[in-house]
Amino acid sequence: MPAHTPSLDALWMPFTANKAFKARPRLLVSAKDMHYRSDDGREILDGTAGLWCVNAGHCRAPIVEAISRATATLDFAPGFQMGHPWSFELATKLTGLLPAGIDRVFFSNSGSEAVDTALKIALAYHIARGEPQRTRFVGRIRGYHGVGFGGISVGGIEPNKKAFAAQLLPQVDHLPATHDLAHNAFSKGQPTWGAHLADALEQIVAERGAETIAAVIVEPMAGSTGVLVPPVGYLEKLRALCTTHGILLIFDEVITGFGRLGTPFAAQYFNVMPDIITLAKGVTNAAVPMGATCVQGAIYDAVVNATPAGVEFFHGYTYSGHPLAAAAGLATLDLYAAEGIFARAAALAPVWEQAVHSLRGARHVIDVRNLGLVAGVEVEPRAGRPGTRAYDVFVDCFFNQNALVRVTGDIIALSPPLIISEGQIEELVARLRRALEATD
Ligand SMILES: Cc1ncc(COP(=O)(O)O)c(C=O)c1O
Repeated sequence: MPAHTPSLDALWMPFTANKAFKARPRLLVSAKDMHYRSDDGREILDGTAGLWCVNAGHCRAPIVEAISRATATLDFAPGFQMGHPWSFELATKLTGLLPAGIDRVFFSNSGSEAVDTALKIALAYHIARGEPQRTRFVGRIRGYHGVGFGGISVGGIEPNKKAFAAQLLPQVDHLPATHDLAHNAFSKGQPTWGAHLADALEQIVAERGAETIAAVIVEPMAGSTGVLVPPVGYLEKLRALCTTHGILLIFDEVITGFGRLGTPFAAQYFNVMPDIITLAKGVTNAAVPMGATCVQGAIYDAVVNATPAGVEFFHGYTYSGHPLAAAAGLATLDLYAAEGIFARAAALAPVWEQAVHSLRGARHVIDVRNLGLVAGVEVEPRAGRPGTRAYDVFVDCFFNQNALVRVTGDIIALSPPLIISEGQIEELVARLRRALEATD
């Protein structure tokens, strides 16, 4: 270990195998554009845009400068009963990227907070409209919506809930997951099988009564549970069913927002419009934490106009619309526009698709799936030890191939910064192939 490695004892690391990490740490000490640098001086090709969030590449000068200027000018301003210009400017600018009609923005500091805010807004909206009995939520198996109690309740990841099962939200149902290896393996882009899985919402409606359901929340393309691409026609069905039954549709676009699929949001990629969009990550290129819950004007109007005077919605965070985050967001959106980064992702998507699908037939690989600049490479689990093979591939990538990939279960997820070059795409895939070959 290099001399400057700090003591690792005090930090309880999030979503990390703490003992394994501390036995053999993986420390990143700087970053620029497509690369990280490790504490032992290696240049690591970033195959994951950090955590699906550094869409414009690392330490981009316009964002760094905007943050420095902001912190020297207005370090903090209260967001309750007070404001500052940058958060209003960023909200306005976001409405230029969001689907038409989604034009009110509530800021938070993370995807988890954006999700819990969305769930609260859904309840507040139905109360304001005189349907207070609409209190149920519908999520989806293998959905990830962060780690708040709301988010884990509507989410569909058992390990994230197990220890907290006694206190989850009580009125939640789940749609089935959309990916099925038997039908969808090695799909390029959207699989053709599976639209019918949206019909499960009809069964939930039949059982619970439409009049009890406030909202359905899904990731338009599920990222964290291993890149689950929605089948052709699935989201359209879900939209139609929600409209029929007066249920709000929430798209959690924390990963898919800001060009990951080649459009500003997945809603535009799929041409399916939700009522509420949650976002985070790419809004500031991850340089400052920020989340947002973006709603149709009619939802804002219903909630705000239901209260004649005083605070209309009892919710908010000390750092909602923090000046640093707002300044970073403004600079980030300018950078995305100046460099045509979303269009660049769209243009690269076919090259990406071809490159990642070249892993079909590589050692251990049982599925490859892709959309935009995202891919999931699923490996055959080791008998009785699920997750260990993909984890070993991830570790080999980091230490021996100088590539950062992400592991979830037995799936390797790839989601590079959208500034990746064609050569770097080939290189990333070659390094992953070598790691697959080197793993038992
Ligand atoms: C779809 C989705 N929702 C919510 C979250 C939670 O975001 P955060 O970790 O910023 O709380 C994530 C994080 O990856 C996500 O992918």
